[in-house]
Amino acid sequence: MAFTITIPGIIRLVVVRTPDEVLAVNDASMVERSLSGRGGLVNRSVAAKLAVFRTPDGDIWPAFRDRLDPLRVAHQAALEAALSDVRPLLRRIAPEIAELGGYVRDGAADRSLGVIVQQAVGRLFFANYTASEKSYYAARTLQTWLSPWPLRAFWIRRSGALQASLDRIMDLSRGDMACAHATALAMDNIVRSIKLMRRLARHGDNLAKIEPLDALAQTLRAPTRVVREARDERHVGPVRLRARSLVLLAVESARRQRPDPGFALFASAWNRCPAHGVVPALLADVWQAARADTGGSPEQRRDLQTDQIPVSKNPPTAAIR
Ligand code: HEM
Repeated sequence: MAFTITIPGIIRLVVVRTPDEVLAVNDASMVERSLSGRGGLVNRSVAAKLAVFRTPDGDIWPAFRDRLDPLRVAHQAALEAALSDVRPLLRRIAPEIAELGGYVRDGAADRSLGVIVQQAVGRLFFANYTASEKSYYAARTLQTWLSPWPLRAFWIRRSGALQASLDRIMDLSRGDMACAHATALAMDNIVRSIKLMRRLARHGDNLAKIEPLDALAQTLRAPTRVVREARDERHVGPVRLRARSLVLLAVESARRQRPDPGFALFASAWNRCPAHGVVPALLADVWQAARADTGGSPEQRRDLQTDQIPVSKNPPTAAIR
């Protein structure tokens, strides 16, 4: 059930949490990614936060571009095509997959989990992308900037860490905004999944017993929330959206009610993640690497040779949170 918070002059907000409502509101033509900042103080402050993902020459990070923006559409299609040849890409990042597998198996790695994930994601774009503690710190700073804590956000901007982090991520991404998005923001979803895999692997003989596709289904997580604005007043199904409301789509909360990997990646929507094929395959390979010396059925190993992991596969019932 969606809920609304309206305090005149302060906030106009709608939070959408069920799978059908999230999909319907996401699909509504008057619900946009660009934020006007109208509707109250909070609306203005959230719009100001997202404005930092726009460069001085007007370029915008892809997940903040509007649905009909022709550049967004073209870049999404180009990246989706570039990422569709899944197996060669995963061979390219085989060393990082092995490191992540070691972390899932042993709970430790030679460098921090976030650095390994950031490098794996960066290398989907540039074969020689090199992440470090500093670049991962930059990613964490931008993730914290987007979290709902005003004091931390104030300090991040005031200290100069915000601009330094944006500059570092953009430098490493060689100006490629999709790479910046993936290595600063999207990578956190993968970090969460790998941590959950580690938890799963610690219990009993789960590592040997659970097949990679099931491990993937149990650990893939969606972004906690994505932000939109309702341009006009409209009912979308039972959800009433007042004009200039901030709309929070609680994607992870909705995914828990419909635990299908495709849902986490909006795989059937206009804003489908261009990595909807490679991310599930990467996670399944990490589990496979973790159990390399614990076995796993030959049938499953054959399965993982296929190029595309079906994202609509129904997960097993024993989901972890
Ligand atoms: C577990 C990992 C990931 C999850 C759950 C995920 C999920 C999502 C979701 C839900 C969106 C839509 C956001 C919105 O509409 O506001 C999105 C968009 C996007 N994702 Fe991912 N993502 C993941 C990893 C990645 C990776 C590794 C890449 C790049 C290699 C990537 C690239 C993008 C891009 C460029 C967009 C914007 C698409 C557009 O033009 O609208 N994502 N992702």
